[in-house]
Amino acid sequence: MESTPYYFYDYDLLNATLDLVQEETKGSNFHVYYAIKANNNKKIVKTIAEKKFGADCVSGAEIQFALEAGIPNSKIVFAGVGKTDEEIRFAIGMNIAAFNCESFEEIEVINEIAQEFGRTVNVALRLNPNVNAYTHEKITTGLNENKFGISPYEYEEIKNAHTSLTNVSFVGLHFHIGSQITEMKAFKNLCFRINALKDDFIATFGKLQYLNVGGGLGIDYNNPVENSIPDFKSYFRVFKDHLNIGMDVPVYFELGRSLVGQCGTLFTKVLYVKRSEQKQFAVLDAGMTELLRPAMYGAQHKIEKYNASSNELLAPYDVVGPICESSDSFGENVLLPKLKRGDLIAIRSCGAYAESMSLRYNGREAIPSYPSAVNATAFKVAKTA
Ligand code: LLP
Repeated sequence: MESTPYYFYDYDLLNATLDLVQEETKGSNFHVYYAIKANNNKKIVKTIAEKKFGADCVSGAEIQFALEAGIPNSKIVFAGVGKTDEEIRFAIGMNIAAFNCESFEEIEVINEIAQEFGRTVNVALRLNPNVNAYTHEKITTGLNENKFGISPYEYEEIKNAHTSLTNVSFVGLHFHIGSQITEMKAFKNLCFRINALKDDFIATFGKLQYLNVGGGLGIDYNNPVENSIPDFKSYFRVFKDHLNIGMDVPVYFELGRSLVGQCGTLFTKVLYVKRSEQKQFAVLDAGMTELLRPAMYGAQHKIEKYNASSNELLAPYDVVGPICESSDSFGENVLLPKLKRGDLIAIRSCGAYAESMSLRYNGREAIPSYPSAVNATAFKVAKTA
C-alpha cells in the first residue's frame, strides 16, 4: 500500500499553463511575476524560473527560494506589510528590483537602511484602492478596512515628505485587491481606480516607471479537470481594454494560484469509516495540516475516490482529517462511492496554498511531494489518476 499523504504535481499541466500565460502576454508590455507564497516547492519554483517568470516575494526566505531557483535579482520584488529590518537588509544586499511598500513608516525604515548601504532603492507604493474583489472576506485585501496598502491619509504624508527620503526612488504603483477572484468586473474596477490615481502619482514623483496590478485570478475548484487552465485571455483583456496608461509603461502581474493551483492533488488514504446516527465519517490520513483552506475559509476542494468505477453507488460522507479540531473537515455530505479503510482519495486543486500553508500542529511532519526519484511507485499511481 502506498505511503500517504503526499502532494502530487502534474508538471505537464503546469508547463501548459505557463506556456499559455506567455502566449497571452506576448507582444505586450505585460510581465508576470510568480507569487511564491502560493507554492514554494523547490521544483515548482524552478520550473517557473526556467520559463523566465519573475518573483513576488513576501519574506527574506521567499527571496532566498527565488534566487536558489534561478530567478535573477533583477526580477524579484519584495512585498508585505511587516518586513523586518533583517529582511530589508537582506533584500538590499541581494540588490532586488524593488520594494512594494505598505506604510510611511516602512518607507522611512527602508530609506534609513538604504542610507547605511550608501544606496538608493526602488520603491513602488502599494495603495489601498478601496475596490471590492467580490471574493471571500478573508482573502479580500483592497478595502479600506483591510490592513494592506497605503491609505489616502498616509499617501498624503508620503507625498509631503518624499523629497527628504533621499535614498528611496519612487518608481511605481502597486495594487492587489484580493485572491480567488472570478468576477472580471473586480479587475475592471481596479483599472478605473488606477486610471484615477496615476496622474496624481506622476504629478508628485515625475514619472510612472511601472505599474504592478497584483495577482488574484481565481481557479475553478468545482471543475478542476474540465477547467484545468484559467481563462487568461479574458483576464489580460480586461487590463488591455481598461488601463489608461501608455504602452511604454510596463505592467506587472503577480499571479500565484492561477499558475499552480490546478496542477496539484493531495493524495490521502481512508484510515477509518465511522458512523453516528445521522452521519458517516471518512477519516483521512491528511488533515488541515496539509490543506488548511477548508478549515480557514470554508473552501471546497473536489474530493474523489481514486480508481472508482463509474457505476458504484454513492453515499454521503463527512470527509475529515485526523487533527484534534472540529474544523478539520474537508466537506460535509460529500457524495462518494462506498469507502473502506485503505481507499485512496484524491483532493483536487491543491497546487496553491496547500503545501506552502502546511502546519506542524499535532506534531505533524512535512509530507513529500511527487514526482520525485524517491518514490517512483507513488508517481505512477498518481499519474494515472
Ligand atoms: N500579490 C500580493 C501582494 C498578494 O498578497 C498575493 C496573495 C498575490 C499577489 C497572489 O495572489 P493570487 O494570484 O495567488 O490570488 N491563502 C489564501 C490566499 C491568500 C492570498 C494572499 N496574497 C487561500 O488559500 O485562498
